[in-house]
Amino acid sequence: MKRIAVIPGDGVGPEVVRESRKVLEQIASLDPAIEFKFEVFPWSAESYLRSGEMMPSDGLDVLSAYDALLFGAIGWPLVADHITLRELLLKIRGGFDQYVNLRPVRLLAGIQSPLADVTTTDIDMIFVREGTEGEYAGVGARLYPDSDREVALQTAVFSRHGMERVIRWAFELATREGRSVTSISKGNALNYSAVFWDQVFDEVAAQYPAVPTERLLVDAAAMFLVMDPKRFGVIVASNLFGDILTDLGAAIMGGMGFAPSANLNPERTFPSMFEPIHGSAPDIAGQGKANPIGSLWSTSMMLEHLGYPEWAGALMKAIERVMAERRVRTPDLGGDSSTEEMGEAVLAAIEAPQAHASPDAEAVARSV
Ligand code: NAI
Ligand code: MG
Repeated sequence: MKRIAVIPGDGVGPEVVRESRKVLEQIASLDPAIEFKFEVFPWSAESYLRSGEMMPSDGLDVLSAYDALLFGAIGWPLVADHITLRELLLKIRGGFDQYVNLRPVRLLAGIQSPLADVTTTDIDMIFVREGTEGEYAGVGARLYPDSDREVALQTAVFSRHGMERVIRWAFELATREGRSVTSISKGNALNYSAVFWDQVFDEVAAQYPAVPTERLLVDAAAMFLVMDPKRFGVIVASNLFGDILTDLGAAIMGGMGFAPSANLNPERTFPSMFEPIHGSAPDIAGQGKANPIGSLWSTSMMLEHLGYPEWAGALMKAIERVMAERRVRTPDLGGDSSTEEMGEAVLAAIEAPQAHASPDAEAVARSV
């Protein structure tokens, strides 16, 4: 039995997470070997307005007992975004040492990229974004507030330990999948942090001579994502650069509604967290307009992490089939289907993987 902590959050978060949960329940009902126990934690901007905190002081202790976290999105106009983000999402990523923020960017068949003349093979890359330090470490100060001497300091943290482990993880992924590795930095301007990043990247790369590598400045990388996306395989980047470039990645794969992510603690000392990369989308919240694919795709990544790769594949196939059929379309795809209709379509398209076919079916398969 796997225990899943569900944190739906705000806005469209609960709407898309609901579809993910239905899919997980369906998989558990199809496979007697799989059982999920869900617990919902209503931590959000909404609960903050009532309680004054984004999560209870023992929140991380409570979550640490779970096998995985299924997260929607947080943020609401009535609460400052740095409070919602830092005091919930970044606390979990940092507290659970989720240093690999994995973000696939892949164009599915049947989806129109805003880029002209690209095919599904042109847009197929995986971002490995550092998730615990860099520019999001939360180190800094505000001095002399409300005066004309006011100063803000935001210190980026780049540790050898932190960089080495995420870059190494990217190379291991590239080795498994036969991809190249592109390092994103800004060594020409950031003469301490990015120069150190480049140095560590070169050191780790030297240990993987079979993997083709490239080092790009972040601005050039933004340009190449639009002009030549097929050059990318695995992309490893610090927290801020990875954040920015993956919204661009989401755009070229068809929009914010698609892009999935996993926040992994590879050592499995703590639970990992799975969430669409989009935010709470207040502009469309509560209207059933959100595209649930980002959340469903993240759920497939969760199944993989929990040790059910065949079901991860089955869910991914179902997503791909529904997209290729072009029948059920949420408004971001130019259709008028609801979040729930899209979720139901994916759910209906899930086929039990071969390994879980009944013994009779396997015998038939062997005999032909
Ligand atoms: P956003 O990702 O919420 O929305 C950007 C645009 O994408 C909007 O036009 C929205 O309608 C659209 N969009 C997002 N998700 C969609 C979906 N599933 N289907 C169809 N369209 C979708 O980013 P924005 O507007 O910058 O931020 C809104 C709030 O979300 C803020 O409070 C922000 O702090 C928070 N946020 C939270 C994140 C998280 O929880 N991981 C990540 C990013 C933002
Ligand atoms: Mg982002």
